[in-house]
Amino acid sequence: MEEKTNLTQEIEKRRTFAIISHPDAGKTTITEQFLLASNVIRSAGTVKGRKSGKFAQSDWMEIEKKRGISVTSTVLEFNYQDCKINLLDTPGHQDFSEDTYRTLSAVDSAVMVIDSAKGIEAQTKKLFQVTKQRGIPLFTFMNKLDREGRSPMDLVDEIENTLGIEGYPMNWPIGMGKNFRGIYNISQKRIELNLPNGEVKVVSIENGIPADQIFKEPIFQEAFNEVELLKEAGNSFDPKKIQSGEQTPVFFGSALTNFGVKTFLDEFVKMAPSPATHEDVNGQVILPDDATFSGFVFKIQANMNPHHRDRIAFIRICSGEFNKGMEVLNERSGKGLKLNSSTINQSSDNEQVSKAVAGDIIGLFDNGNYQIGDTIHSGKKNLSFPPLPTFTPELFCRVRAKNVMKQKSYHKGVNQLVSEGSVQLFKEVSTGDYILGAVGQLQFEVFTFRMQNEYSSEVELVPMGNRIARWIEDENVDEHDSSSRNLLVKDIFDGYLYLFENTFALRWYQDKHPKVKLVEKI
Ligand code: G4P
Repeated sequence: MEEKTNLTQEIEKRRTFAIISHPDAGKTTITEQFLLASNVIRSAGTVKGRKSGKFAQSDWMEIEKKRGISVTSTVLEFNYQDCKINLLDTPGHQDFSEDTYRTLSAVDSAVMVIDSAKGIEAQTKKLFQVTKQRGIPLFTFMNKLDREGRSPMDLVDEIENTLGIEGYPMNWPIGMGKNFRGIYNISQKRIELNLPNGEVKVVSIENGIPADQIFKEPIFQEAFNEVELLKEAGNSFDPKKIQSGEQTPVFFGSALTNFGVKTFLDEFVKMAPSPATHEDVNGQVILPDDATFSGFVFKIQANMNPHHRDRIAFIRICSGEFNKGMEVLNERSGKGLKLNSSTINQSSDNEQVSKAVAGDIIGLFDNGNYQIGDTIHSGKKNLSFPPLPTFTPELFCRVRAKNVMKQKSYHKGVNQLVSEGSVQLFKEVSTGDYILGAVGQLQFEVFTFRMQNEYSSEVELVPMGNRIARWIEDENVDEHDSSSRNLLVKDIFDGYLYLFENTFALRWYQDKHPKVKLVEKI
């Protein structure tokens, strides 16, 4: 019993989340401030240097170094107050891949960082769709208040109008740009002043606004009036809606000048949920502090160390406790696996982990035992978490081996990379040709690079450009009804889909075949 209590307490300390944002909104900068606030790093520039190649930890692939971007997601762990935070990083490049989507299936909440001059941008909107579908809590940080941006009212309204969820301001900016004077912390009833020397002065307004001259200045008066307006006409704070992702607490600040970040983090650890219960495909409810260890593979990453051909399977622990050397079952393959010395934790230079609990992410060396979506557990009963969502690819190309004599390594490489979820594979029904599908162009580049480097297979990709993929929900698919405008292909599960040349072709087909149900994935 005693042990169970300890386990529950440990799990309740976990906050596992990811940041969703558009490139350049400030995700790297705010991550760095989080790490500074939790004393993981001592100086600014450590994380940001990663982008410019100064920081080698995540430069696991040449392509990353060459392009100066982070292709893969990594996990950062740090302690803040009494919480253990697992921050799942997501690729910062705009050709973000399916990896990012899948990473969002492994978190309990998300933080949306918005550039207050730009508002909600395209990539944020796409990523939001995934968090919305999962119904997880979303916390918003309106960044770059040290620059002139859009009016705060406008930004909060945009959340409602564009994303369809309520925004609830937790604090309110007082001025912006050169006149950014601080924030009115509504929930804590205090004003946090942004002093010219970069320091923060906290003034309590528990008993009303003090009579100091400064608060009579128009810029303060304007902010106070807006806060009054919000209190009267704005959304009311609703913890239930926050937990289901229907309302997002909104914080204003500046990651670069580290203003409002600590306020955000303090509230975030209080409000963000600890690891959630999970339901398996048979409706079994798995509590995080269940005695059985269980988790699922949400990401497979290869060749983190170019000197070894390592593959790491990242597991989100859903229940129980991981201990080095424990024996588990891979439900899909039915194979028993011993999780021994192979476990790593990425945040601290591949330091070995010997213990982890629900909410944590562990990386296991993989010799081909894992596939994306696999459930592993230490129990006796069947347990399978639902498959991870697949996404509708938007870009396609035909692929073939340059050297016809090397078919074996070509097929091995293609199958392996597809099972890792690097790209999606389709087969043209009429010719049997392979077609690759991706969400972003970068996925093809990574595919080509890895085929050559890991499987000594040079591939030729013939771009097909953008296509609109729609799965066909019909028993009787006419295999001859295929043309360049509506190309009939099969996915790896033998499901039929059309790749339409454009929206016109899609509409034309739908008009002609009103009974055929065409569906899109996320
Ligand atoms: P990302 O990871 O979301 O892509 O964004 P990142 O943090 O790298 O920030 C993108 C740019 O925006 C950087 O400037 C960064 O310094 C700046 N930035 C981030 N937060 C703030 C903020 O609160 N205020 C202001 N004014 N700028 C901010 P850069 O010039 O592109 O890069 P660097 O030379 O500063 O590294």
